[in-house]
Amino acid sequence: MSHSTVPAPRPAGPAPRGARATPAEHVEHERAIGDFYSEFPYPWHVTRLARADDPTLHPALVSQELGDFTGGRMPPGARIWVPGCGVNQALIMALRFPSATVVGSDVSEESLRMCGAAAEQVGASNLVLRDEGITQASYREEFDYIACTGVIHHCPNPGTLLERLGAALKPSGVVELMVYNTFHRREITAFQEAMRLIGRDQDLWYAKRLAAAFRTDNLLTRQIQAEVEDPDVQFADTWLNPYEQTYTVADLDGLAGRAGLELEAPCVSAVARSLESFMWEVPVADDRIRRQFHALDDLTRWRVSNLLLMDRSPLVWFYLRRADSPIPATTEAERDERFLDAVMTRVSGTERVWLLERAGGYRPLDRPADLPAGRPAEFQEVVDAVDGRRPVREVLEGLGGVPRPWTVRRMRTMLTTPTFPHLRAV
Ligand SMILES: C[S@@+](CC[C@H](N)C(=O)[O-])C[C@H]1O[C@@H](n2cnc3c(N)ncnc32)[C@H](O)[C@@H]1O
Repeated sequence: MSHSTVPAPRPAGPAPRGARATPAEHVEHERAIGDFYSEFPYPWHVTRLARADDPTLHPALVSQELGDFTGGRMPPGARIWVPGCGVNQALIMALRFPSATVVGSDVSEESLRMCGAAAEQVGASNLVLRDEGITQASYREEFDYIACTGVIHHCPNPGTLLERLGAALKPSGVVELMVYNTFHRREITAFQEAMRLIGRDQDLWYAKRLAAAFRTDNLLTRQIQAEVEDPDVQFADTWLNPYEQTYTVADLDGLAGRAGLELEAPCVSAVARSLESFMWEVPVADDRIRRQFHALDDLTRWRVSNLLLMDRSPLVWFYLRRADSPIPATTEAERDERFLDAVMTRVSGTERVWLLERAGGYRPLDRPADLPAGRPAEFQEVVDAVDGRRPVREVLEGLGGVPRPWTVRRMRTMLTTPTFPHLRAV
């Protein structure tokens, strides 16, 4: 077990929600968080990087997730910002959007160094990396797409950060935002708070030793003991973070509103897929109640799902738009209708792949890999039946009829989004 402490000064834990920090406090907080993530760069290098041979594929899939089956929502040559990019995310975005210019920024020098080294190895020339805290950024209406996941909740004043993101967004742009779900973090929040009170909140050795020595069989002990052998950077990111705030869907809606933004659509991430929790629906085995839930307006249904699914509710990971966006808002039900009206084909192509070597560094695979990587987990018969001529509705009628509305939503999610790239509108 390694003994590692972070020398950064320790502010006294998260400021109360909504408290305003002074510019000097912002600089101080960003320095402390940068030191923490340079000591524990997280997440570590991904084992696999890939770039689709068709540069239009990923932008089209993001458009589809936003309910635009014409592909127009993600313009070619988009400008993308990945604030708090960490080690991988800005590079992943640069590979997914090869026609875009991607700016990745972070306060962790080490994370930026690791990202830059990997970008060189795979020859990503559309990526610019900046050592810059979000509170120091002064972009104005510059970006079509901002991806900020797992970042603003580590700062004492997430509202100020979200305002910066909103100011940097073009009027028609979109922010992909992930913050911690309150119902996922109860044990972690309690442990972090206790460490702060003891004055050992950034002492990895102490935290791991304490975790291993716990004797009470409670929820906290069970979770931390299951993770105590995790790699140090992972354990530290979870259990030792210097700041952490958590959100329900209702909290995020309030935060977005104060930043001039609004929740547009859920975003299904690969993490959510692996957790098998990505639908904002309560799967009750009673069709009448299910219909009532389904008929709720989107925000209310997301909130109800958050409350009833609790620890099994999805990650709080949404696309946000400016409240004054010129693009008409669509509801989830309207997106489902657009999917049914769309003419689609199977995604089929190849991607160039690089694998992380044991000794470090990425090595290209000799041959391209097939896209999509596997068969859909559900709805294979729909993928087999689409023909690039008939709208999905007609295809489904040919298969026995359009299913119930919540099944259509699940089908759209599990066939047409970046995390489930099986169908693409023609
Ligand atoms: C948990 S990591 C997530 C990295 C990346 N977004 C991802 O999803 O893979 C959080 C990252 O945000 C960075 N960060 C936190 N607060 C920041 C701020 N105010 N400005 C810039 N970067 C920040 C940290 O240095 C760290 O690299």
